[in-house]
Amino acid sequence: MDLTNKVAVVTGGAMGNGLGIVTSLLKANARVYILDYSEELKKTIKELKKEYSNVSGYIVDIRDKKMLDEIVKDIMKEQKKIDILVNNAGVAKLETFAKMSDEIRDFHFDINIKGTWNVTKAFLPYIKKSKAGRIINLSSVTGPMVADVGEVAYATTKAALIGFTKALAMELVDNNILVNAILPGYIMTPMVEGIAKETNSKNPSEVIESIRLGIPLKRLGTIEELGNLVLFLASDECSYITGQTIVIDGGSTLPETNSVGV
Ligand SMILES: NC(=O)c1ccc[n+]([C@@H]2O[C@H](COP(=O)([O-])OP(=O)(O)OC[C@H]3O[C@@H](n4cnc5c(N)ncnc54)[C@H](O)[C@@H]3O)[C@@H](O)[C@H]2O)c1
Repeated sequence: MDLTNKVAVVTGGAMGNGLGIVTSLLKANARVYILDYSEELKKTIKELKKEYSNVSGYIVDIRDKKMLDEIVKDIMKEQKKIDILVNNAGVAKLETFAKMSDEIRDFHFDINIKGTWNVTKAFLPYIKKSKAGRIINLSSVTGPMVADVGEVAYATTKAALIGFTKALAMELVDNNILVNAILPGYIMTPMVEGIAKETNSKNPSEVIESIRLGIPLKRLGTIEELGNLVLFLASDECSYITGQTIVIDGGSTLPETNSVGV
């Protein structure tokens, strides 16, 4: 798959899934802009620049609409259109519904839902200038399909992104912009390390091991595997899929029971 002359914006690309996505797009020759609120982005850009010249980054919180507008203006000084937007930035903090403060709830809603909304709104006029625009939203199997204890806020936001994806896909068919959502199961990233620590601070690796054993493929996914799926959805080879939810989970949502079988 070749993305020469394609311009991509990826949120949350400083680490984890976002970094896997950015690397896949760069390998396919896209021009990539990363938006991330972590200072880690500076290190990531420095590392990526060793191999790729067509990457740059902006430190920005996707809750900050004003700064997003400034960044859009800046990018559009050197580009005529945006072809690919990957709404990947997201957060997850475990807490039961009974104990969850409104602040933690809003932390999820403001970043996972409104942040995705803000970035899409800011870039959409320029994605419309592309001949084959693509918007790819990182949802999750958590929410639309499954959930564990402590995930009410996170699950709510990830399910919301399905509605966002489908309704937006309908609105943008006339612009030839395909809008799809990816639903990952467990991919090994700093977010998953954080969830493991929140679950068992003394022995987070035990949590990861237990997650691994529950997945039919007996391993967590890699950021490269996630990146490859985004690459396909972003490419011209993907031309007849829109408004869909694509699961990448090593079969984790597949088992009906853990006890039946011969
Ligand atoms: N890792 C998984 O197993 C998994 C599973 C399902 C869905 N996802 C989704 O994939 C996406 C990436 O997850 P990850 O595991 O790589 O997470 P991560 O925490 O490892 O990385 C997230 C990145 O997003 C950035 N970010 C977070 N909030 C931001 C904000 N307000 N503004 C700008 N940047 C922000 C962080 O700085 C970080 O670089 C998320 O949307 C997550 O919900 C992950």
